[in-house]
Amino acid sequence: MSKKIASARISKESSELLKELNNSLSFDKQLYREDIQGSLAHAYMLFHQGIISNEDYALIEQGLKEILSEIEEGKFNLDRDDEDIHMAIEGYLTAKIGDAGKRLHTARSRNDQVALDFRLYVQKNSLAIAKLLLENIQTLINIAQENTATLLPGMTHLQHAQPINFAYHMMAYASMFKRDYERFMSSYDRNNYSPIGCAALAGTPHPIDRNITAKKLGFKEPTLNCLDTVSDRDFALEILFNISTMMMHISRLSEELILWSSSEFRWITLDDRHATGSSIMPQKKNPDIPELLRGKTGRVNGNLVGLLTVMKGLPLAYNKDMQEDKEGVFDSVKTATLSLKVLNEMMTLLKVNKENMARACMVGHLSATDLADYLVKKIGMPFRDAYHIVGNVVNMAEEQGVDISQLALEQLQSIEPRIGIDVLDVLDNNASMNARTSKGGTATIRVLEQIETMKSWMENLKNDI
Ligand code: ARG
Repeated sequence: MSKKIASARISKESSELLKELNNSLSFDKQLYREDIQGSLAHAYMLFHQGIISNEDYALIEQGLKEILSEIEEGKFNLDRDDEDIHMAIEGYLTAKIGDAGKRLHTARSRNDQVALDFRLYVQKNSLAIAKLLLENIQTLINIAQENTATLLPGMTHLQHAQPINFAYHMMAYASMFKRDYERFMSSYDRNNYSPIGCAALAGTPHPIDRNITAKKLGFKEPTLNCLDTVSDRDFALEILFNISTMMMHISRLSEELILWSSSEFRWITLDDRHATGSSIMPQKKNPDIPELLRGKTGRVNGNLVGLLTVMKGLPLAYNKDMQEDKEGVFDSVKTATLSLKVLNEMMTLLKVNKENMARACMVGHLSATDLADYLVKKIGMPFRDAYHIVGNVVNMAEEQGVDISQLALEQLQSIEPRIGIDVLDVLDNNASMNARTSKGGTATIRVLEQIETMKSWMENLKNDI
């Protein structure tokens, strides 16, 4: 089949090995909807411009629609010998409707055809992933709303640093997902231009109108330069990068969930639906889901680097190397979509062990910075001096095996006599958390603001759509 429709000057049947290497139908068959959608728009434009007759257009339109339903109903099996999805559909159309089918490819090349199909796929999936991100942000907001006063140790270097609340921690991830959302949407806008009508590389002498196809396919307008368009895979690289960055965020959250569900922490409990057992150790409950989310980040990064490497040395315009663009994108899209769905379900059922988080706050002298700030404010001590005095206080607490918030006033005064009774409020972890009222800080009132801001951002999006 492929030989007949696309090999005018090849006189011999292709070697089996060439076929195996050259074939992309086994994976690009999943572009059948986009291919048919693109062909319908192209055929309409050819008819509108008087390039094909009304009768031919009617046959092509009906034939393509039939093929679409035959594929969806499993009556036309795409596990075939054709080179790619474009050949498979065009060949079958011609078998169905005869000469009219052969007119479909007028003023078109597979180079702009594949650029179109693949771009339609990327655009559609960018929106779908963006929508899943919003669902995840909503779930994080829900958890945050329940935990605006849930204390836990904020960390740097994975060492206890300062007390924060769990809502604050969740809103940090919501902020990452918001940026991810915006990244997918800005890529969508940047790439929302139609490639079809560029033909092989130089345009076409036929009197086509690319505005018609662009409009019919939902693009803003046609691309500017055809040579660039058939060579361009930036849209694919962008979705790969966007997915990699998003998966990196999911991976960091997963890493924290894994840590927090360990015996050393017990800050959260994963629902039994999202944990597995061990085949040998009967007591085990393993966090396989976050581990897999963390692990899958590796493959999406591989896909990104893979395509960047494919593209880096290619002269303009189309080169067959570019057929290597698809599998990585399909894989990353599938991985991202599943990961977001799983993450959302897992976070929805997550149990937050507030008491264990609070207990952890009694380790690590979390309010040490507050004591230094107290000395600065109350006594006018230079911060660096205060910093050293608090170091002595911490040493004393360590020697006694307690947290600085558990030291008696007299003990504190034995190090710095100007410390007053009001220090006890300062050393309290809850007070320490609520003292951080600067914009974007952890104080409950600030986190409530962050939640409100995120909610109204989401509301506005809904109004925009
Ligand atoms: N299967 C090809 C691909 O995915 C379609 C474009 C082929 N173009 C060509 N000039 N051979 O890239």
